[in-house]
Amino acid sequence: METILIVEDQEGLAKMLSQALREAGYHTLWAKDGREGIATLSENRIDLILTDLKLPHKSGMDVLQAAKAHHAATPVIIMTAHGNFSIAVKAVKEGAFDFIPKPFEPDHLLLQIEKAMEKQRLLTENFILKETFSAQLSFPKIIGKSQIMLDVLEQVKKVAQGKTSVLLLGESGTGKELFARAVHMLSPRKDNNLVTINCAAIPHDLLESELFGHEKGAFTGAGTKKIGKFELADKGTIFLDEIGDMEISLQAKLLRVLEEDVLMRVGGTSRVPIDVRVVAATNRGLNKLIEEKKFREDLYYRLNVFPLSIPSLRERTEDIPAIAEHFIEFYAREMKKENKPLSKKAMDLLMDHPWTGNVRELQNAIERATILSDGDQICPDDLVLRTRSETRPSINSIPLEGSLHEVSDAASRIVENKMIKKVLRQTAGNKSRAAEILQVSYKTLLTKIKDYAIENQKLV
Ligand SMILES: Nc1ncnc2c1ncn2[C@@H]1O[C@H](COP(=O)(O)OP(=O)(O)OP(=O)(O)O)[C@@H](O)[C@H]1O
Ligand SMILES: [Mg+2]
Repeated sequence: METILIVEDQEGLAKMLSQALREAGYHTLWAKDGREGIATLSENRIDLILTDLKLPHKSGMDVLQAAKAHHAATPVIIMTAHGNFSIAVKAVKEGAFDFIPKPFEPDHLLLQIEKAMEKQRLLTENFILKETFSAQLSFPKIIGKSQIMLDVLEQVKKVAQGKTSVLLLGESGTGKELFARAVHMLSPRKDNNLVTINCAAIPHDLLESELFGHEKGAFTGAGTKKIGKFELADKGTIFLDEIGDMEISLQAKLLRVLEEDVLMRVGGTSRVPIDVRVVAATNRGLNKLIEEKKFREDLYYRLNVFPLSIPSLRERTEDIPAIAEHFIEFYAREMKKENKPLSKKAMDLLMDHPWTGNVRELQNAIERATILSDGDQICPDDLVLRTRSETRPSINSIPLEGSLHEVSDAASRIVENKMIKKVLRQTAGNKSRAAEILQVSYKTLLTKIKDYAIENQKLV
């Protein structure tokens, strides 16, 4: 059932709305002022927000901003009294789905809500790329309806049409390989081969012949002629994964092939014309490699015609529930176990985790949880998550070395961490109240909670 958050200070109106929405099949939550609205928003999974503009303790605009900051895809409908139209129009410009002038007929409101929900559903369906792809070439689903992911997919669709080289950038586990496949599958080349080669996984001296093939007797061990990946990808796409690991001498040869659309097999003399679309990926900073003279600048420009940055999971936390559910279903099916929901606390834990390993880390956590869980829900104990201290130096020890700035930075991290935990304990985990006490913005507090990997669960 979809949940609607009503933020309205007039109790009578709130009750009336709540009843009408329940009768229409929605679950409702009520917050009586802006502050409570923002807190409720951060602590529950909300599908739509219906907020008054004028509210005690923070306005409807503040609620809208908080919603956009943390749940960008959740539609917000603003209820406005006579005389507040200009603010309502501003709200729509700032991302509200629509506004509705008071007084209104409940039916009119229901229609607006249904429209907003329908738009939301369409976005989700569009993004979970067509089922047919999953059947062909086992194209996996790309899950996520955060604005940032929708934007990336929009770019993928556009660039897929031509032959432009695409460079996929992003941290490990963000889905670069998935997007490489999407570029191919959404392109007119989809009926020809997509050939993947991981430049880091093949010994340097063999990579050239893997890419371009070799003639019989070209080198010791070349007993037969071999066709390389580029020729296999003719009329299709080649995915050069971990391109940052390619040796500089081979980079020169690759550049020539890309510029001339012609290759020569190792030990061969004939020029073989090819028609291949190149998608490359890296999670290493190519700019730094260029500075260190480990990556050719000219090749970088040749590959980076269309850069696509795949966002980290930290930048799109609102996608976490859908991705988690997708993997729960997947592993339940694979292990022939029943499909269990996440408990509220387990979900909170997932939402607060820093996910340095991105979607892959989340996928692994769910796989482990599916094995471990023996209750009827997945609980925090089933989720064995890496703590920040395993991935970063402990914040409990200040190394007395480096610059004064570095030392004081380390010290301030320890104090901030302790203080935030203390205040969160005091507010029973209510983050917006904690932000007020700490006199920082809600967003700053959330960033710090993530940064320090402070889990609610440990506080109560
Ligand atoms: N949006 C997504 N929806 C569903 N599954 C995803 C999504 N993004 C990534 N995955 C899954 O997460 C795992 C890691 O993705 P992938 O291998 O594409 O990452 P990567 O960016 O290539 O990582 P690396 O840099 O370490 O090679 C895969 O199993 C992939 O199917
Ligand atoms: Mg990869």
